[in-house]
Amino acid sequence: MTADPTAILNDRFDEAMKAAFGDDLPEGASALLSPSKNPKFGDFQANGAMGLAKRLGKPPREVAQAILEHLNVSDIAEEPEIAGPGFINITLKPGALSAAVAEMDSPELGIEPAADPNSEFRKQTVVVDLCGVNLAKQMHVGHLRATVIGDALARLNERLGHEVIRQNHFGDWGLPIAMVTTAIKDGIDAGTIDPQDLTVADLEHYYRSAQAECAPDRRGLAAVEKFALGPKARAELEEQVAGAEAALARAKEGLVALQAGDASYMTVWRQICHITLEDCFRNCRKLQANVTDEATAGESTYRDELPEVVHDLESRGVAEESDGALIVRIEDLTGIKEPCLIRKSDGGYLYATTDMAAIRRRVRKLGADRVIYAVDSRQGLHFKQVFAAAKKAGYTKLIRGEGEAELFHAAFGTVLGEDNRPFKTRSGENVRLSDLLDEAIARAEKAVAEKNPDLPEAERHEVAKAVGIGAIKYADLSSDRIKDYVFSFDRMLTFEGNTGPYLQYAQVRVRSILRKAENEHSIREADIAEAPLVIEQPEEKALALELLKYPSVVRSAADSCEPHRLCGYLFDLATSFSSFFTACPVLKADSDELRLSRLRLASLTGRVLRDGLNCLGIAAPERM
Ligand code: ARG
Repeated sequence: MTADPTAILNDRFDEAMKAAFGDDLPEGASALLSPSKNPKFGDFQANGAMGLAKRLGKPPREVAQAILEHLNVSDIAEEPEIAGPGFINITLKPGALSAAVAEMDSPELGIEPAADPNSEFRKQTVVVDLCGVNLAKQMHVGHLRATVIGDALARLNERLGHEVIRQNHFGDWGLPIAMVTTAIKDGIDAGTIDPQDLTVADLEHYYRSAQAECAPDRRGLAAVEKFALGPKARAELEEQVAGAEAALARAKEGLVALQAGDASYMTVWRQICHITLEDCFRNCRKLQANVTDEATAGESTYRDELPEVVHDLESRGVAEESDGALIVRIEDLTGIKEPCLIRKSDGGYLYATTDMAAIRRRVRKLGADRVIYAVDSRQGLHFKQVFAAAKKAGYTKLIRGEGEAELFHAAFGTVLGEDNRPFKTRSGENVRLSDLLDEAIARAEKAVAEKNPDLPEAERHEVAKAVGIGAIKYADLSSDRIKDYVFSFDRMLTFEGNTGPYLQYAQVRVRSILRKAENEHSIREADIAEAPLVIEQPEEKALALELLKYPSVVRSAADSCEPHRLCGYLFDLATSFSSFFTACPVLKADSDELRLSRLRLASLTGRVLRDGLNCLGIAAPERM
C-alpha cells in the first residue's frame, strides 16, 4: 500500500473514469493530475475532463461531473470541486499530508522490503549481467556503461529487498584468446617475455599483434596479382600469408591444448586472466562499482557445458542442421529470420552458445526469476536470438513454481565525444577507463577547491573522488539508457542543473543545516525525529508531495531498468527543497514547533537524497 497521495489519487481517478464511461473510455485517457499552481484551487488539479469531453463529444463540465460521481477520495481529501470549464480541484484533508510523510519517515523511507511468498512485493532472485570485460584488454570507455548501469540496476533491486546475483560475463575463452595465450607462451618459452612483469597494457599489445599475425593478407596478395606489382611484392605477401596461416594453425593447436586443460598453456592463460581481472577490479573500485572476483563467471566456466547444451538442443529437435552448421530457428517466436547459430560448420561453438549455457545456469542453478543484461544496444539482435532460443529450449522455466524467468536486455547507447562521434582520444584510440576516471577526479579536485577553499587537503581529496566519480556516473545514469550521450567534463562537473555534484551538494546543505541546528540551537537528531509535522506553506506541501513519491520511483526505476527515472526524481526533489528553503525559514522559523517540523522535512529530504544516490552507486559526502 502506498502512502503517496499523487499515486492514490491517480488510481482513484482511473477507477472513477472506468466506472463512469465503461467501454466508451478511450484508450490512454488520463485524469492529468498535477499539483495546483495556486493554493486557491486546492492541492491538486485534474485537467483531463476537457480532453476526454472532446473525445466523447460531451460538454466538459458534464464529463467532470460524471467522474466526480464515481470518485471516492473521502479518506484523504475534502469534497472535490469543479471549476471553470471542467477542472477538478482536490484539497487534501488537514493532516493527510503530514500523516503520510510521518509514515514514510522510517529507516526504510517507505520502501517495503520484498518478502516471501504472497506479499505485495514478492522477493525475487535477480541476476544482473554487468561489466563484461574481455581477456587481455584494458577497460575502455565502452565498459563504463556496462559497469555503471549494471551496478545501479543491481543496487536498485537490492534496495527493494531482492536477492541479487551479479555476473561479470568475462570474455576469457575462444580462438582469439588462444591466439594471445599461444603468442605469450611462445614468448615466455623463447625467453623474450618475462612472465613476472606483464601488465595489462602489455597483454593488449600482444593481443593485437597476435591478431595481426594470424590474419593472412589475402586481399593484398590478390591486389599484387591484379595490378602485377612485381615479384618482390608478391614474394613478401606470399610470405605474410604463409606466416599467418602457420600462426593461425599454432593458435588452433593452442586452443585444443587449452580445451584439453594442458598444464603449460593453462598456467599462462590463468596468469593472463589474473592480470586482466586485477586491473578490472581496480577500475571498478575506483568507479565505486561492486564487481568482484566472486561475481565473475567467465565464458570459460561454461566450456564443459557447451557440448551438453548443443547435444541437448540437437537431440530434442530444438536445433537443426543448416549447411553443416547447427541453428535454432526463432522466426515463429519473434518474426526474426536470422536463426540463432549455436555450432559452426567447423564444429566450433560461438558467443551465442555460451550465452545459452549461461541462461540455463542462471535460471536452473542460480534460481533467477529475472536476468538483466547491461550490455551495449549493438548486441540487440544477439540477445533477441539467444533469448528466443533459450525460451524455445525450455531453459527459462522457473525452478520454483510455474512460469518463466524474464530475460531483459537493458540496452544502452554509445558514449559520444563533443564532436558527436564515438568518444575517442585525439589520436583516435579508445579512451582508457582508468585515464578517464583519474581526469575526472583531478578536475573535481579543482572544482571543490574553488567552491570550498577551507576544506582540509586530505578531506578535499576524498571529496574529489566522490564528486568526480559521482559526476561521471550521474551523467551516464541520468540520460535515457537507450540513447547515446555526449561526454562533457565541463557539463557533468558543474554544481548547477541536473548533475551529480548538484545533488551531492543539495544533500551536503541539509547536513550543514542539521549540524547548525545541533551546534547553535542544541537541537539533536532525536528531537527532530519525533517532531509533529506542520505542512501548510505551498513550498512545504510541494516538498512533502515530492518526498512521498520516492518509494514508487525506486520501484519503477528497478522494474523498468531505467535509473534515469530516479535521477530525474532526485533532481526534482533537490529543486523542491531549494524552493522550500528559500521560502520557508528553517532555523529562523517563527516558532519552535515550526522549526522542528521544517528540520524534520529537511532531514528526511537529506536521507532520501542519500539513499537515492546510494541506489545509483554515487557517494554522498558529509561536506564538500
Ligand atoms: N564480453 C562481451 C563484450 O565485450 C560482453 C558480455 C555481455 N554479456 C553476455 N552475457 N553476453 O561484448
